[in-house]
Amino acid sequence: MADAKPDKAKATQELESLREQIHYHNRRYHREDAPEIPDADFDKLFDRLLQLESDWPELVTDDSPSQRVGSEPLASFTQVKHDIPMMSLSKVFNEQDLADFEARLLKRLDDQVSDESLYYACEPKIDGVAVSLLYEHGKLVRAATRGDGVTGEDITHNVKTIGDIPMRLSLSALSETPPARLEVRGEIYMTRSGFDRMNAAAEKTESGRVFVNPRNAAAGTLRQLDPRIAAQRPLRFFTYSATVSDTEQSQKLSPQIQWPNHHADILAMLGDWGLPLNPERARVKGWQACLDYANELLGKRDDLDYEIDGAVIKVDSLTLQNELGSNARTPRWAMAYKFPAEEASTTLNDVEFQVGRTGTITPVARLEPVFVGGVTVSNATLHNMAEIERLGVQIGDRVVLRRAGDVIPKIISVVPADGLAAVERRPIEMLSHCPACQSPVEKDGEILYRCTGGLICPAQRKESLRHFCGRTAMDIDGLGEKLVVQLVDADMVNTVADIFRLSKEQLVSLERMGEKSADNLLAAIEKSKTTTLPRLLFALGIREVGEATAQALAAHFVKLDALMSADQEALVDVADVGPIMAEHIVHFFDNEANQAVIKELREVGVNWPEAVVEVRSDKLAGQTWVLTGMLEALTRDEAKQRLQALGAKVAGSVSKKTSVVVAGPGAGSKLEKAQSLGVDVMDEAGLLAVLQNET
Ligand code: IVH
Repeated sequence: MADAKPDKAKATQELESLREQIHYHNRRYHREDAPEIPDADFDKLFDRLLQLESDWPELVTDDSPSQRVGSEPLASFTQVKHDIPMMSLSKVFNEQDLADFEARLLKRLDDQVSDESLYYACEPKIDGVAVSLLYEHGKLVRAATRGDGVTGEDITHNVKTIGDIPMRLSLSALSETPPARLEVRGEIYMTRSGFDRMNAAAEKTESGRVFVNPRNAAAGTLRQLDPRIAAQRPLRFFTYSATVSDTEQSQKLSPQIQWPNHHADILAMLGDWGLPLNPERARVKGWQACLDYANELLGKRDDLDYEIDGAVIKVDSLTLQNELGSNARTPRWAMAYKFPAEEASTTLNDVEFQVGRTGTITPVARLEPVFVGGVTVSNATLHNMAEIERLGVQIGDRVVLRRAGDVIPKIISVVPADGLAAVERRPIEMLSHCPACQSPVEKDGEILYRCTGGLICPAQRKESLRHFCGRTAMDIDGLGEKLVVQLVDADMVNTVADIFRLSKEQLVSLERMGEKSADNLLAAIEKSKTTTLPRLLFALGIREVGEATAQALAAHFVKLDALMSADQEALVDVADVGPIMAEHIVHFFDNEANQAVIKELREVGVNWPEAVVEVRSDKLAGQTWVLTGMLEALTRDEAKQRLQALGAKVAGSVSKKTSVVVAGPGAGSKLEKAQSLGVDVMDEAGLLAVLQNET
């Protein structure tokens, strides 16, 4: 898109096309809950529209998207006219923009205030669905979407299923009668953990239809006619304002209430009345403190169980807010400080196939590098052929990539070609032969494909070696992916036992390996020889045997020989081991090559002192623990292993079923959630006390 200032005729043409595109994407996003392009792409179109319109003010039309927000409400819902329009927020992206924002405020306020006395209410910008809740005499009578900002849709039936949203304001806190009419605004959102669970379940259904992101899932849910659907979905709510724009007026209408004159105090009051407030909110002085707030929030972004796309910075004083007023779509007293987008579009340049440790062949997308979720991404897994089919993706397509939290980037959808640019598309086909060893590829079950090369396949060998050396396996410091590849390619290592036979001469002959590194590596290898049975079992890479199962097997059989001679029947006695996994385990230990490797490992001195083998106790059996925040005396892994050794399950998210949450410094939403659910919380000292009385 040309960014230079075009002449009037060109501007007219471009504006027309932009309006059409924006209208179209608005409909996809707001009405159909099925956006085709990421928000960042939409924002680009919108910014260009605003720029052209400011260059050519006479070309602004009444129906321009710049004159309204969102999209018209759906006809199938009752329409609701908002008392006060639901506005949008202007965006800033960096420090300078924020400084400029404050400078503009001060100028407008004509030196009534100094930068020394300008207070802001800062809040996370929740990536959900804006709603208006109307309370009459303390009772929730109506809930509506934002719609086009003026008219929204009545979604009361669905909102009533959301546990966070009180049906009645909590009267005990109201000394006298509740306000006759109070409109509360906020964001309905879906938790990340809930979204993942819901999609995992949806994947197993016949249609296999999943939502692309939590925001979409929330919006799609609120658009359901049948409230039973919303009732089953993990929707939550954060309050961000009440339409108490004029304190005097409110005071007249509800004289029994002391209406505060600051946004932060209004929120606090709403909180007292039972409305959920975001715990990350803060009141700060000056734009620099806003910036610190935003940076700190960005640092926490991945740990929050809900998605945020920035920080909202609001002038705290309602008097000043009124004085500043609004533009057509946005108030002048607030700003959204945007964080790096977690979705972006890019081109799928090619698909390559990777061979895993057990031979599974995984399609990997090679992408035109794109900045998403704060990093540049050029690869993404496509999981399997079924996923490719579900997405309908082909090489050459424009795709939407998502990288949220600390999870690996994922292609979530294909941007339909607009018909203008004829893109060359090429279907993605599974290989008939392994790219690493040329052995035939076979279909394994419904979805997976596997290389049949076994240990002759260098790719499988490399992957098993990498797994063996990993931090949660044998933990050989310094023996990472690159070195594994070098060692296999140089024929120095075939089986995992060969690692322990490496000599210094061999190592220094490798490229980029100095004497010192060789010594360090040999020391790390030596150190790893003394290990634990669970680590060794996990390191061996038996199909389906993860860390937790390795723990359980070690605890049950205590000695490796006992496990090696166990039959399927004995194996399924172990909690968590099902018949298929039992079969894999038997199969693994029946294999002569594997028996030989284990024998060699013992011969080269790999040992697991029995004292270190954790004795299983049932002390915490049936309990689910969650670790959050920082631990000092223990690493997360250690804490996890030791809890598991006592029979506890260690989970990643807090729910009603959680028994105890261990919260260290920096604990955030998980701690909040535990408190709100009444789950027991302890600190690291408490955890150590539990672990110390292990036996
Ligand atoms: S204040 C006029 N506060 O962002 C100011 N908005 O682009 C109105 N949002 O439609 C909004 N978190 O859906 C505000 N803490 C927050 C918010 C928030 C998310 C959304 C809201 C609004 C959009 C503005």
